[in-house]
Amino acid sequence: MFMAKRQIQISHPALGDEEWQALREPLFSGWVTQGPRVREFEMLFAERHQVKHALAVSNCTTALHLALLAAGIGPGDEVLVPAFTWVATANAVLYCNAKPVFVDIDPLTFNIDPSKIRDKITSNTKAIIPVHLFGLCADMDAVRKASVGLKIIEDAACAAGASYKGVPAGGLGDAGCFSFHPRKSVTTGEGGMITTNDDELAHKIDVMRNHGASVSEEQRHKGPKPYVLPAFEVLGFNYRMTDLQGAIGAVQIRKLDSYIDTRQKWAEYYNAAFSGIPWIRTPRVGKDYRHGWQSYVVHIDESRSPLKRNDIMEFLQSRGISTRPGTHAVHMLDFYKDKYGIRSADFPEAETANNASMAIPLHNKMTREDFDYVIDSIQSIG
Ligand SMILES: Cc1ncc(COP(=O)(O)O)c(C=O)c1O
Repeated sequence: MFMAKRQIQISHPALGDEEWQALREPLFSGWVTQGPRVREFEMLFAERHQVKHALAVSNCTTALHLALLAAGIGPGDEVLVPAFTWVATANAVLYCNAKPVFVDIDPLTFNIDPSKIRDKITSNTKAIIPVHLFGLCADMDAVRKASVGLKIIEDAACAAGASYKGVPAGGLGDAGCFSFHPRKSVTTGEGGMITTNDDELAHKIDVMRNHGASVSEEQRHKGPKPYVLPAFEVLGFNYRMTDLQGAIGAVQIRKLDSYIDTRQKWAEYYNAAFSGIPWIRTPRVGKDYRHGWQSYVVHIDESRSPLKRNDIMEFLQSRGISTRPGTHAVHMLDFYKDKYGIRSADFPEAETANNASMAIPLHNKMTREDFDYVIDSIQSIG
């Protein structure tokens, strides 16, 4: 049996001794739910992303849910979402009993195509969720221009540290939602963050993430009357982040820029290596963008490649190299197809991206030998 020379994962969290040490304090203090370490993480995150407020939550899906609710999205409302994104972007809209309305993407960036937004706006449209896919910001000036009057909730799940025209992701709309899932460049196991410059939105989110309580658990326990339960004036959720995650996040966020710089260097290494292969289109990054490089995703032109995209993925797997489709076209998933009677071809660019995109390994635990092995393996295809 052929044994692969190396095993290279699509992603591997860059966690180590510092994160391990940071867990001691909350573990030994006994304060393990949302508390001082979450606050520290939030403060560092807000500072890095140049926003007034950062509110930690349990993951990016719950972040999107809360951001939409706080923005007033509810039954009967329509919310525009790109057709090519992780399913959670659209699911969060349904959690609010609103309707996700798909918009096709720009094939060169995999992000929402601003020229297709206006046609989708009806009298029921209340918000848009531009996704900064794989760490590349959507063209936010064009999105804003096409979305006048709509709330803009950035799905920045992949975009910690990314920026557009010098403004960090998370400060480009009314609110931004981030993920700290292990496939992201900084991770807390699971975790999310909502950023905003809007005080009222921040207050609503703060209350809703904690069961609708008007006072946080930490404030109450450490205050003069811990025995007095707070008022509950709105429907809330338990979407809190733990202080164990907060402690890890506070360490991770300090390393974000060095992680991105390293990823940028290797992304350029890949770009140069693949520039001579006519059937690979490497990621396009305009001069206004700082890519966060959550993933390195290429487009396979099957009309010119010796193998189909799926066969390329199978070949690379046999060499120990993990790949994934960039993400999926949500309108092609059974649940959405059946619910709304959508055809795959209704969003042709999202359909193509679904079938032709391929993420290859890019993470902060990879060595030069790993990158060279991936490159040699792809070049050997022809
Ligand atoms: C674009 C996008 N949105 C939302 C999410 C959901 O994030 P989480 O897993 O933290 O809920 C993801 C996760 O991969 C994502 O890629």
